[in-house]
Order: sequence, then structure tokens, then C-alpha cells
Amino acid sequence: MTADPSAADLIAARPHLPMHAMDGLLLEGVPLNAIADALGTPVWVYGAGTMRARYRRLAAALAGLDAHIHYAVKANDHLAVLRVFGQAGAGADVVSEGEMRRAMAAGIAPARIVFSGVGKTAHELRAALENGLAQINVESPAELEMLSAIAAATGRTAEIVLRINPDVDAGTHAKITTGRADNKFGIPYAEAAALYRHAAGLPGIAPVGLALHIGSQILSLAPYHAAYARAAELVRALRAAGLAVSRVDCGGGLGIGYGDEAGASPEAFAGALSRAFAGLGVSLIVEPGRWLVGPAGVLLASVVLVKGHGRFVVLDAAMNDLVRPAMYDAWHGIVPVSAVDARAAGVAVDIVGPVCETGDTFARSRLLAPLREGARVAILDAGAYGAVMSSTYNARPLAPIALVDGERWATIRERQSHAALWEGETMPDFLG
Ligand code: LLP
Repeated sequence: MTADPSAADLIAARPHLPMHAMDGLLLEGVPLNAIADALGTPVWVYGAGTMRARYRRLAAALAGLDAHIHYAVKANDHLAVLRVFGQAGAGADVVSEGEMRRAMAAGIAPARIVFSGVGKTAHELRAALENGLAQINVESPAELEMLSAIAAATGRTAEIVLRINPDVDAGTHAKITTGRADNKFGIPYAEAAALYRHAAGLPGIAPVGLALHIGSQILSLAPYHAAYARAAELVRALRAAGLAVSRVDCGGGLGIGYGDEAGASPEAFAGALSRAFAGLGVSLIVEPGRWLVGPAGVLLASVVLVKGHGRFVVLDAAMNDLVRPAMYDAWHGIVPVSAVDARAAGVAVDIVGPVCETGDTFARSRLLAPLREGARVAILDAGAYGAVMSSTYNARPLAPIALVDGERWATIRERQSHAALWEGETMPDFLG
């Protein structure tokens, strides 16, 4: 991205966000102003139709392969979102007992849930076995021994894949790169074959394949080609050594266009899977999160005030709501909800939140129409790693969430009350 795309360009490139001359910006068929009028701001709005359409496009791209989509719950774990993907046919990829229980509560069968994560506790592994999850992605020798002991003690057999670290740079932000040798994830490539053989002899363990996930917001196919080639090579080596391998979990990571850059193409991604694994006779799992849900959500906010002779536009949303700009210097489109403002010529402003940190900045030197107090803006592509990463820092209650589905919408989370902020806190007797 060279120059920032204009509000008009951002909106034009997102057909699920039509601009109406009178009603302003819509998500699918619902005016965002109607939701903000009802729930106030800040408020998250997700589009179920958009999620379904994206799921269908990915499923169609993978149709020629023996590939199964396990939505990465961490990207957006709201029960209604999980229900939308579950109904569309997705399984789930979870990384904690909490995510496992959320997925099951939303109606995703345990047999369609895989469990990833670098530090699963004994308690979590036991819960995964007791609930009959489909697969556990083992990331270390210590986890393997722990799982074997728990499975054997309870008379169960755990189907596992070994997560390998292919030592491939995904070419993304350092904080979301996971497949390099110096990242904490997976089993070093050179040690994986010996561990797989060892696993095959352990009580309670049935190794069925490999897993890998090299990072997130990946926009180029090259790292996928490199990583999947290494995985395929290991499948061949394991089989040559007489070990059975029937599955490869290829992880997620497909990026989206936050500005005017093109997002990852699911069709091209399917091509990369096919190039690496066709002919091996393995079934594949993919674990996309961001690509499915990111573009389907916005964070609506209102202008509280403008200060610094027009330089700082202070919103009522903050880094505690959407932390991605503060945490990863992430770029999110920010557009006025009013059609007149979205068309108007912009002036360069810093768009900030009210939290007491300079890092609470959504955008620097961004062209935005001059906005008055109370004017609303939509922060785009906030469906993934948005509400799930919110905190209540500065004692700011969690924002409400609305789900749009075509012309319909419903509140799917109420605004947190102030009293709820200290629910569960207790005052020790000695303080009187
Ligand atoms: N599978 C595994 C094992 C993962 O660790 C992740 C994401 C995914 C799948 C899904 O990746 P996706 O398709 O969404 O890229 N909070 C960061 C992103 C962290 C991603 C962590 N792992 C952000 O806001 O950019």
C-alpha cells in the first residue's frame, strides 16, 4: 500500500458494506446508524451473510481436495459466530478448554473439533479426551508423554498429529510469525520423525499425521509452498520408515486486504495444497480464522471531540476495544457512516481513543472528512481478533455486539454494566 485508499475506495471494494445516500453505511441490508441508535457506540457489528459467503467460497475452492475446514475459534469466538460457521459445515480449531466448551455450546460436535496449542495443561488434555475431540495437535515431547499417561490411565486412545516447526518465514508481522525455528511453536523439523516413531509405540496414542501453522495475515503463497513441501517430504520419509500417515493439518493464516492490497486467494491456496499433497493420499485440515470472519465485522464509534486545532479526532472506542493498531501497528480502514462525509474531501488527522496511552491511536495522518462531535465512523475489517482481544482497561466496559443477517439484526451481546466490571472481586475482612 503506497498512499492510503480513500473512504470511497474502501467502501467500493467491500460490497457487503453498501453506502446509502440517506441511511449512510449499511452492513449487508442494515443501516449501521440503526444499530448505533439502538445500542449506542462503541458497538461491534458482524455480518452473518458475509461470513457464510466467505465460507462457501473457501469450501468451493477446496472442493476437489479431501480437505476439511476447521474454523479457528480464536479469531472470533462469539457463540453466534460459531453457530453460523458450524451450520455452514465447519468444524473448529480450538486452543483452550474455554474455546472447546464454546464450540460445543454453539453446537459443533466434538468429533469435528481439533485442539492446538503450545501449552495445553493436563486438565485440558483430560477434558479433550473425555469429550472425544477429533484430534490433538501435539507440540512437544513433554506434551506427548503427559497425554499418553492420561489416555492410558483412562483407557482411551488419543488420535494425534505432531505439529512440526518447518522453519519457514511467513513474511508477516514478527508477533504473528509462528513457523520459524526460533518461535516457540511445534517440534523442530529434524526431531519430528524420531518423535513420531516414539509416539507410535506409546500407550494411549495413535499418531495419524502432521500439523503445521506458519503464521497469520499471510498474503503470499511462497511461504505456504515452502512449508507444505517440507511437510510432504516428512510424510514420505515417515512412510518409507514404515509408519502410517493419513492426515495433514495445514493450519490457517490466509490474509485479508485491510487497505487496497489484495487478500489471499482461496483458489490459489487450494492450488498450493494440491501441489504439495496431491498423490499422497492424505486427508487435509485447514484452520482459517481471519480470512473467514475479518472482513465481516466493523467496530462503530462516535467522535467525542476534536482537539489540537483539528489534528486529533478522539473517538469513544479505544485500544481496549480494538488493540490491533496499538499491538501490531495494524492498519484498519476508518470511514464515516454518513454518505456526505464519506464523499467529502479529507484532511489529515490522527484518530485516537480516550485511553491514557499514546499507543491508543487507531490511525496517524489519515485523510478523513472534518467530523463534528457525535459523527459516527466505522472501523473496518474488525471481525477477526477484534472483540476477542478486548479488555476492560481504564475500567471501560466491554462493548455490545450486534449480528446482522441480510435485512435482520439482533443484539448478541449487551454492553457490559459498570457493576459487572467488579463482579467476582471481594474485599478482604482485614480492610474492614
Ligand atoms: N491455527 C493455529 C494453530 C493458529 O495459531 C492460528 C492463529 C490459526 C490457525 C488461525 O490463523 P488465521 O487464519 O486467523 O491467520 N491476534 C493476531 C493474530 C494471531 C493469530 C494466532 N494464531 C492479529 O490480530 O493479527
